[in-house]
Amino acid sequence: MNASTRHFPPNFRFGAATAAFQIEGAAAEDGRRASIWDAFCRVPGAVLGGDTGDVACDHYHRYRDDVAVMKDLGLQSYRFSTSWARVRPDGGALNHAGVDFYARLVDELLDAGIQPWLTLYHWDLPQALQERGGWTVRETADRFTEYALDMHDALGDRVAVWTTLNEPWCSSFLSYTAGVHAPGRTSVAEGLLAAHHLLLGHGQVVRELRARDAALNLGLTLNLTVADPVDAADPADADAARRIDGQFNRWFLDPVFRAEYPADIVADIRAVDADAVGRFEAAVQPGDLPAIAAPIDTLGVNYYHGELVGGRPPARQIGGGEAPTSRPTASPYPAHHGIFWHDRGLPRTPMNWEVQPEGLTRLLVRVSAEYAAPVGVALYVTENGAAYDDEPAGDDGELRIRDLDRTEYVRDHLAAVLDAADAGVDVRGYFYWSLLDNFEWAWGYRKGFGIVHVDYDTQVRTIKDSGREYARIIAARSLAG
Ligand code: NOJ
Repeated sequence: MNASTRHFPPNFRFGAATAAFQIEGAAAEDGRRASIWDAFCRVPGAVLGGDTGDVACDHYHRYRDDVAVMKDLGLQSYRFSTSWARVRPDGGALNHAGVDFYARLVDELLDAGIQPWLTLYHWDLPQALQERGGWTVRETADRFTEYALDMHDALGDRVAVWTTLNEPWCSSFLSYTAGVHAPGRTSVAEGLLAAHHLLLGHGQVVRELRARDAALNLGLTLNLTVADPVDAADPADADAARRIDGQFNRWFLDPVFRAEYPADIVADIRAVDADAVGRFEAAVQPGDLPAIAAPIDTLGVNYYHGELVGGRPPARQIGGGEAPTSRPTASPYPAHHGIFWHDRGLPRTPMNWEVQPEGLTRLLVRVSAEYAAPVGVALYVTENGAAYDDEPAGDDGELRIRDLDRTEYVRDHLAAVLDAADAGVDVRGYFYWSLLDNFEWAWGYRKGFGIVHVDYDTQVRTIKDSGREYARIIAARSLAG
C-alpha cells in the first residue's frame, strides 16, 4: 500500500449512524403508538432478556447531549431514522408532536455543523398497519409514501439527503420468512410480498420526492455481502455462493438498478415453493418494476462481514455465538436447501460474524462496476462496525473503554474503503455503526456496537478509545500515524 494514498479524498464524509427504535425510548410519549418492534418485544422469547425499546438510550430526551458528543467526535454527517409510529402513530393521521421532535433534532445538528442524513424506514412499522397486513399488502407502500411526504413537508428545507429504506432484506426475509425480527412471521410467500412492497414504497417515495425537489439526494441502503465458495471449481459450492448472492444482494440490486428480479433465484424459489412464487408474481403489477427502478443518486452499502459457503456441511461446525431468540425460527433464505456456512479461520466478533475487511473492498468494486458506476450513482458505506464485549475500566474514577479490537476493526475497514477508492470506486463516505451502544434487535442490549458507551442505569455516555481514534482519523482525514 502506498502511504500517500492513506488520505481520504476531500469530498469524503465521515459520520456515524443510529436508528429510531434502537436509541430513542419515550415509547409512549407525545402521541407515539406501538410499532411492530414494541409488539415483538412483548412476545415471550423473541428478544434476549425480554428487553424492550421503552427507554433505550433515552435519546428522545437527551438528543442535545448526543449531538454535543457527535460534535466532540468531529462527525460531518449523522445518519438517523425517523419513527413512523411517532409521526403517523396509527399509520393514518399526522401527529405534529412527533414531527416536531425531528425538527428539533435537525436544527440541533445544523447548529452543530453536522449534516442530517435521514432514513425513513428502519424497521419500525406502526403496529396498526401490521394488523392490516403490514408489508405483505400493497396499501402499506402507499401509507409509506404519505408518511415520507409528511417528513418532507416538515424537513425538506433543511434535510438534503433522504434514504427510503434501511436493509430491506432484514425487514422482509428476516422478519416475514425467518421470524427472527418483527413481526416474527415464518412464510416464504410473505417474505417475497414484503420485499416487493418495500421496494415499491421505495420507488414511489423517490418519484414523489424527486418531483417536489430535483436537488434532493435520494437513495436506499442495502445490506450486502460477499459470499465466497469453499471451492470455486466445485459446482455445488459455486451454486451455494450464487444462491446466497442472489437471495441477499441481487434480489434488491437488480430491481432497483435493472427493473427486474433475478430470474435464476425466482426459478430456485419456485422449485421449493411454487405457491409462494405464484402469490408473489400475482402481486407484481405492470409498472411496479419501472417504479422501483426510479433513478437514485446514492446507494448506501451496509457491510459487516463476508461469508464462506459450500454445498456440503463443514467437517466442524462454526462455534461460538449464543442464539438471539428462544423462539423457533426458519431460514431467511426461501431456497436454503444445500447451503452450508464454513469457517476459514478468520477472527470473529461476539456476534459470530467473521472479520473480513478485504471483502468490503471487493464488494464496493463489484457493486460499483456492475450497478452504480454505469448510471452515475455514488456509493456510501452507511453502516460498518462491530459488537465486542467491552470491559469498562476505571482510571482515577473515570470510566475508560479500551476497545482495541473495535479500534482495529474501524481502521481496517476504513483502509478497505480507501483501497476501493484507489481502485476507482466513487465511494464518498463512511458511517460507523453505531454512535451509541443500543438496542440490538433480537439480541436486546447484550451486544454493543457503539463508539460511545451507554450506561443504561444512569444514561451516562462515555466515548470509547475507538471513538477517540475515529475522531483523530476524522481530524487528520488520514489513516497515517
Ligand atoms: C444493521 C442494522 O441496520 C442495524 O439496525 C443493526 O443494529 C446493525 N446492522 C448491527 O446488527
